[in-house]
Amino acid sequence: MPAFDLDAWVARSGALDLDAIAWSDVAKYPVSAATVRTLSYMQDIESHTIIYLRSLLATRAVDDPEVATFLACWLHEETFHGIALARFLDAAGHPVGPRATPRGQEPVTKRVEGWATAMVSKAWPDFCAVHMTWGAINELTTLTGYLRLKAVAGHPVLGDLLERIMLDESRHFFFYYRQAEVRLRRPGAAWVARALVDRFWAPVGSGVGSDDDRAFMAGYLFAGDEGRAAARKVDDTIRKLPGFERVPLLEAWMDRHVRPVTGLNGGRNGYALN
Ligand SMILES: [Fe+2]
Ligand SMILES: [Fe+2]
Repeated sequence: MPAFDLDAWVARSGALDLDAIAWSDVAKYPVSAATVRTLSYMQDIESHTIIYLRSLLATRAVDDPEVATFLACWLHEETFHGIALARFLDAAGHPVGPRATPRGQEPVTKRVEGWATAMVSKAWPDFCAVHMTWGAINELTTLTGYLRLKAVAGHPVLGDLLERIMLDESRHFFFYYRQAEVRLRRPGAAWVARALVDRFWAPVGSGVGSDDDRAFMAGYLFAGDEGRAAARKVDDTIRKLPGFERVPLLEAWMDRHVRPVTGLNGGRNGYALN
């Protein structure tokens, strides 16, 4: 895999070109309730990036000039993903309302989690290896989720928008993955990173969106043959990182947590968390 050219990426990093999207055509095509629910969840996660970054800035991640530069541009791009998805939902007649819990009011569990992360970072010089690995998994899951959403939603304007977002996500993934690949080669780094992923990893958005929405979305995008194949591809890519051979990830999470819900007519009408 080639090196990530940070200077080149920073030079062209920027907001999505919202003017390039045919917003006035959005309402010409149907948008299913499942697509609206998935987009609403993703819009919330994209907009949550600034909160996620808040706890990261308390770690030694900011001491690495390359990582700090990346994070600054990354936040800008992710913020525009949230803005673009909100605009799509609005154009489709499903405007994003105010959050039930404002972002400034994080639950105690999240604050404790942030504090614990900062402590681990302080005590362990290779902390960044975990952060980069986590980032690689989450960016790849997001990218793959958008790819699946484009396929299942079948909406041309949404497809165009998601294509543009996916270009950004693939560069984000590439940065994190290359960083993880190098950092996990350090003695002990892979072992600790793997132990933390095994113990704590859950799909992007855990603790942000509701469990029901996450289960629904996981079922909508990753159940069925094509969905399972996409989830397996995510897992196989991460398994190429040092120390991550045979790591149980998205497919295993699906097996453990998502079960189909059968409706009154005997057909599958959704998914729930186990
Ligand atoms: Fe994004
Ligand atoms: Fe991203």
